[in-house]
This record gives sequence, structure tokens and C-alpha cells, in this order.
Amino acid sequence: MLVLEKNAMTEEIEELVKKYGNSRSSLLPILQDIQRKHKNVSDFAQQEVARVLDIHPVEVYSVISFYSFLNTKPKGRNIVRLCQTITCDLSGKASVAKAIERELGIKFGETTKDNKITLEYVNCLGMCDQGPALLVNERVYAKVSPEKAIQILNEIK
Ligand code: FES
Repeated sequence: MLVLEKNAMTEEIEELVKKYGNSRSSLLPILQDIQRKHKNVSDFAQQEVARVLDIHPVEVYSVISFYSFLNTKPKGRNIVRLCQTITCDLSGKASVAKAIERELGIKFGETTKDNKITLEYVNCLGMCDQGPALLVNERVYAKVSPEKAIQILNEIK
């Protein structure tokens, strides 16, 4: 089973190299395609991309860590992002974060076991005069109190 999965990923990467070419500039579009299809770029996929493009795996990993739209682990179906920039920080971000973490039993940067929710910090969401700001999937919430955060979570749970 594992061998079949490995072969499928290798074949897929070889197809992407045919599509984009085998130069270094193909690295990003190849990773984007893998991310789009699998919702993450696994360790094995990273190694295979490095092997097929004849570059060091560290180079592949550093591109993934640079771009926030690429990740090495699958994310939850809902992404809850709390603004960590200074104005939201000063208007109570920490207590909102604490309430969310307590409610879900996970820390920011983690995903719930049922894969429903991933918590992430983000930088300014453009709602600085109405912080703390929370982005749930595509929707922005302003002036989020710990109680309001729990209410929002209950709507998506
Ligand atoms: S600082 Fe949080 S939205 Fe701008």
C-alpha cells in the first residue's frame, strides 16, 4: 500500500516536471500544484521534488516555510486566524487566544483531531481600529471578545 502511494506521488511529480520543466524556477509552481491537490506537501513529496529537480531537500523546505500558502501538514476544514499585530495585541488578543485554545484544546499552529479547525496567527487584517480581529475562513470578525470568539467557534464546530 505504502509502495503504491509512493509510486503515485513520484509519478505525479514527474508529470509536473514535464509540465513545468526541471529548472529551479519550476520549484514553486510544482509545489503549488501539489499543495492544491493534496492540501499539503508531505516529507516524501518534498524529497521526491528535490530528487527529480536535482536540488537539496533543504531548498524545497525553505520555499515551503517562506510561503504561507504552502504547508507540510494538512490543515483543518476551517482555518481560524487571529491577528497578532500590535493594535490587536494591545486590545486583548491574548485573552481571545487563551479562550479559543481552551475551548478547542489545541494551541495556535495546531489542528483539532477531527480536522475541523486549524488555528493560526496572522498579521494585520486591516481592522486595526476594531481589534481584536479574527478571520474565520473568508469572513472577518471585529471587536472579538473571548465570549464572542467561543460563540463564533460554536457556529463552525
Ligand atoms: S493590527 Fe490587527 S487588524 Fe490591524
